[in-house]
Amino acid sequence: MPAAGGVQGRRPLVGGNWKMHTTREEARSLVRELRSELDGLEGIDIVIFPPAPWLADAHDLLAGSTLRVGAQHAHWERSGAFTGAVSAHQLAGVVDYVLVGHSERRQLFHECDRATARLLGAALAAGLSPLLAVGETAAERDRGEAEAVIERQLLAALDGLQRLDGRVAVAYEPVWAIGRGESATPSQAEEGCATVRRIVAERFGADAAARARVLYGGSVSAATAGELAALPSGDGALVGGASLRAAEFAGICREVAPSGGG
Ligand code: 13P
Repeated sequence: MPAAGGVQGRRPLVGGNWKMHTTREEARSLVRELRSELDGLEGIDIVIFPPAPWLADAHDLLAGSTLRVGAQHAHWERSGAFTGAVSAHQLAGVVDYVLVGHSERRQLFHECDRATARLLGAALAAGLSPLLAVGETAAERDRGEAEAVIERQLLAALDGLQRLDGRVAVAYEPVWAIGRGESATPSQAEEGCATVRRIVAERFGADAAARARVLYGGSVSAATAGELAALPSGDGALVGGASLRAAEFAGICREVAPSGGG
């Protein structure tokens, strides 16, 4: 199987978005299991996104390993009277990545395009790597608006950038494929990832588009990860439910890693 993005030399990336799952003890044991399964896997970047209260635990338990920690969300202001919020600036030193614009943030917490741009800029300023999620709903797809939605979300979030910072990765996550147990087909996933890359090329140039990492997300499992990661336009996966099971997530990472990481 070809390595994800291998032709262009992009390093594959797999993210595990735990969403609002795990107790503290469950989180600590999952982190330990992931470390023993995946530490040192070659040719791939792996990042887990535990719930906010467990980030420091994950950071400490993964110290000295090749696994990285990311936050599922952050606020763009550095500090201030923002009850309940945690800033990207505060998270620096604890995490390396931050998710930006996940569809659950957009739909359930009414996060607008402008908010994604602010967080993306704040994450970069804080030294973090933003993983920007874009993707259409089933209704938008049925209306033939998928490309327009991806374009709007992408251009809005990247609005403040003069050039595409190499730390920015994009996940194409069609909302209709999230949490369904059945991912998009490889051709649907390729179409979405290729759309992301085309829009990045139009906005930032062909070189930036060739370097940018674009992931697919939506019901990825160990059984589907290989074919989804081998897409010409795809460089890995953003995983939800399957990232809560160490063996399953490890299987996904091995499928995505060039030659199984060995
Ligand atoms: P599932 O893998 O559970 O469909 O979730 C995908 C997702 O939302 C990752 O951010």
